[in-house]
Amino acid sequence: MPDYTRYYIAGAFLGGVVLTAAYNRRLTNSSDCNNSPDASKQQHKILAILSKINDLDTLKKTLVELESSLVRGEGAGDIKEGIEGCIGNTPLIRIKSLSEYTGCDILVKAEFLNGAGNSPKDRVALSIIEKAEEKGLLIPNSGDTIYEGTVGSTGISLAAICRARGYKAHICMPNDMAVEKSDILLKLGAEVERVKPAPIVDQKQFVNLARTRAAEHTASADKPGRGLFADQFETEANWRAHFTGTGPEIYEQTGGSLDAFVSGAGTGGTISGVALFLKSRLPAVKIILADPPGSGLFNRVKYGVMFDPKEKEGTRRRHQVDTIVEGIGINRITHNFDVGRELIDDAIRVNDDQAASMARWLVEHDGIFVGSSSAVNCVAATKLATQLGPGHRIVTLLCDSGARHLSKFWAQTKPVGGAENDVTLEQILNA
Ligand SMILES: Cc1ncc(COP(=O)(O)O)c(C=O)c1O
Repeated sequence: MPDYTRYYIAGAFLGGVVLTAAYNRRLTNSSDCNNSPDASKQQHKILAILSKINDLDTLKKTLVELESSLVRGEGAGDIKEGIEGCIGNTPLIRIKSLSEYTGCDILVKAEFLNGAGNSPKDRVALSIIEKAEEKGLLIPNSGDTIYEGTVGSTGISLAAICRARGYKAHICMPNDMAVEKSDILLKLGAEVERVKPAPIVDQKQFVNLARTRAAEHTASADKPGRGLFADQFETEANWRAHFTGTGPEIYEQTGGSLDAFVSGAGTGGTISGVALFLKSRLPAVKIILADPPGSGLFNRVKYGVMFDPKEKEGTRRRHQVDTIVEGIGINRITHNFDVGRELIDDAIRVNDDQAASMARWLVEHDGIFVGSSSAVNCVAATKLATQLGPGHRIVTLLCDSGARHLSKFWAQTKPVGGAENDVTLEQILNA
């Protein structure tokens, strides 16, 4: 009998013993039942692991890991390890109204269901913190503080995860963002600085200010710990979180069957990370940027020029992005956008009226209550579907809940259930 067969048989036998022992232990503490779907999933998992064993060392190691994971109850129930365990693996939902109208599958990844800060930024914040921990740049409960410039979502994710990991958060944000976001940050115990919107050349611009504050902290003898600038616009940890998380999840959830991915870009981390992963598996998939008013990215993708020279950042001193949409649209090329820039096939411009009407449509027809960037994504996905024609499958993201946009974006939408709720999707797309 060949060696590997003996190991397999021994492994299967020992695995059975471990499995039985672990389940007996669990059964004494709960009403769990061995023939539940969880138990059968667990048994399949064990058999799959055992079938890969072909030497004694691997066998021993696998059995030790298996036993401790069973004792912890992993896989048998669905217990997450802390709030960080509730990040990622978000559902993919088919939006019925948009799919029926277009004859395409319009699928949305429900990123607002990420558990810590309730947006895709949870993935990024966790990735930034984990990378810094790996490099020894953060020490829990030492006073170490993460500084970030954000329109809100990344700050909320960082503030929540910082609490869970023993760090402090200091968030610099423009003062024209919905007040709900700074209120949430304050309730999470973050330090919040709301500053006047300014171009990136201004040292008081919210991202520059966060970088300066982090350096000031590190240099200060009075403050405990160090300051770490999270740097979401430029850090590799951002797009990589989507390359290893959001992208593979979309691929698996669709079984690799999709024609296009649509996304807005704030830092560009989402569109780049997802594009890099999906195009490596599905070279024909189309990557489409959804861009709000005031953003230079649409022109950059369509025509190769960022914006008209008279709009160039630094040549005028007023806030350039004039839109009720928050979180997406930018007038500079960040590293996170640049990483995937060449993979973006096309761009769709979405105006504020279209975004507001789509947000209301999604509530009226699908019971889905989301914020402005999600509405922009859905307008662009629906527009793309009408261009591609029936039978295609398009994936986009629902980034955050409408609850975070009550005072600004939702304050400007027409009343749900009101007299004007007979607007058609055709009217929305042509608004
Ligand atoms: C609500 C919301 N949606 C979308 C995005 C854009 O994501 P990305 O920064 O990955 O381009 C952001 C960015 O801050 C956001 O806050």
